[in-house]
Amino acid sequence: FLLGIDIGTSGTKTCLFREDGTVISSALAEYPMYQPKPGWAEQHPEDWWQAVRDSVGRILAETGISGKEIRGIGLTGQMHGLVLLDREGKVLRPAIIWCDQRTEAQAKGMEERIGRERIIEYTANPPLPNFTAVKLMWVKEREPEVFERIHRVLLPKDYIRYKLTGEFATEVSDASGTLLLDVANRSWSGEMIRHLGIQRDWLPRLHESHEVTGTVHAQGSKETGLAAGTPVVGGGGDQAAGAVGNGIVRPGVVSAVIGTSGVVFAFSEQVKVDAGGRLHTFCHAVPGKWHVMGVTQAAGGSLQWFRNQFGDAERNVADLLNKDPYELFSEQAALVEPGSEGLIFLPYLMGERTPHLDPAAKGVFFGITSRHRKNHFVRAVMEGVAYSLADSLSILREMELKVSEVRVSGGGARSPLWRQIIADVFGHDVYSVRANEGPAFGAALLAGVGTGLFASVEEACEQTIRVAEKCRPLGENRAVYDRYYRLYRKLYQDLKEDF
Ligand code: XUL
Repeated sequence: FLLGIDIGTSGTKTCLFREDGTVISSALAEYPMYQPKPGWAEQHPEDWWQAVRDSVGRILAETGISGKEIRGIGLTGQMHGLVLLDREGKVLRPAIIWCDQRTEAQAKGMEERIGRERIIEYTANPPLPNFTAVKLMWVKEREPEVFERIHRVLLPKDYIRYKLTGEFATEVSDASGTLLLDVANRSWSGEMIRHLGIQRDWLPRLHESHEVTGTVHAQGSKETGLAAGTPVVGGGGDQAAGAVGNGIVRPGVVSAVIGTSGVVFAFSEQVKVDAGGRLHTFCHAVPGKWHVMGVTQAAGGSLQWFRNQFGDAERNVADLLNKDPYELFSEQAALVEPGSEGLIFLPYLMGERTPHLDPAAKGVFFGITSRHRKNHFVRAVMEGVAYSLADSLSILREMELKVSEVRVSGGGARSPLWRQIIADVFGHDVYSVRANEGPAFGAALLAGVGTGLFASVEEACEQTIRVAEKCRPLGENRAVYDRYYRLYRKLYQDLKEDF
């Protein structure tokens, strides 16, 4: 068996797979995200670890398999989060996670001190508030007493690796999102380390994503029920691992992911950089390959926000029907005409990355009339997220990255309506992949490669991934969406000064 563990933003998902890639069991353990001030987003690394213990424990109990039967473990999770440990391995402060927006001043400060072009030369990316090094500079400026005690800097999934194996290690795909990696050479950037005044030995050992980074140690085994000695491979940032799980391992195959964030992800043979820095250029979890991706900060997160604030009635009905409230939302939104009768949503609830790189951007509902009901708002949210993903797709095309096939995944892609909206807005067939467990599956495949079950990541994908369903764009919807997409783009331009 192979085990994939995904430290997501809303919860940790642990999945057990057979060696042919079929899912045996999957368990989710949720935790909160804290927003103590506007724009802040934090989580407790201890909550992640508790969720790992809980979800792994449930899987072992439910399936009755013993930890010894697991051949390898792959870790994945939310990228960019800053986890700081002291000399004793204790967490120094809550993790500042990927969607936190407090660090605009530090991003600007880095540009001024080091120079944007230089930073792009060193790391292939400009400094954005989301990236780990920028968060680290915030701690340096605002919490010097914490900064002084730093002994290790880890990413979320690598904290779990430390708890499981005692090793301080990471891999190139997640490390790419720190702004401390020389992405072209797949090694830590000496220049960035020097310019930022941090210590090289704070950073974990670097691996390729499929490599074994260590084995479960006695304490990790005691706390989780996994067998001591089980190999743990590098794994990947959630986007790179998710891409492996969707077979995005060759040129032309592009994915659109609707998780809490939304991502359009393209494989690349070379290091290709968008001059505007609107897309990230990161190492892929495939050795010697890269990827380019655009990120919508609040994709599924926008609908989750809407459900939490306005979805009590749906939640109650869903409970009675034993359904997922999102399924109900999706069915109701499907009753509304494409374009939501002129109601347009800008999904900038957590600022926006691609294409605006604007942490101050805000969410907008535009064009409300007395005819609009809740269904329209739900559909408008789905359409707004699709427009935002379309912005990323058009930049990929500008960069001359081939787009011959689009695959959709993530929680949002379970909605047939959302898949249709993506196909219509993109004007492209979109495919979904059978039994998709996303990043956890990709991480498990990497564990299969690292433990010799598959000869390569490409082979692992070929042997296990089947495309299940195709959704075609509908001609009559295309014209409506083209018109509203233009308006969507104009709205940001008109409003940006006032956010
Ligand atoms: C990628 C990104 C998000 C997080 C959370 O750059 O910030 O996708 O990894 O899922």
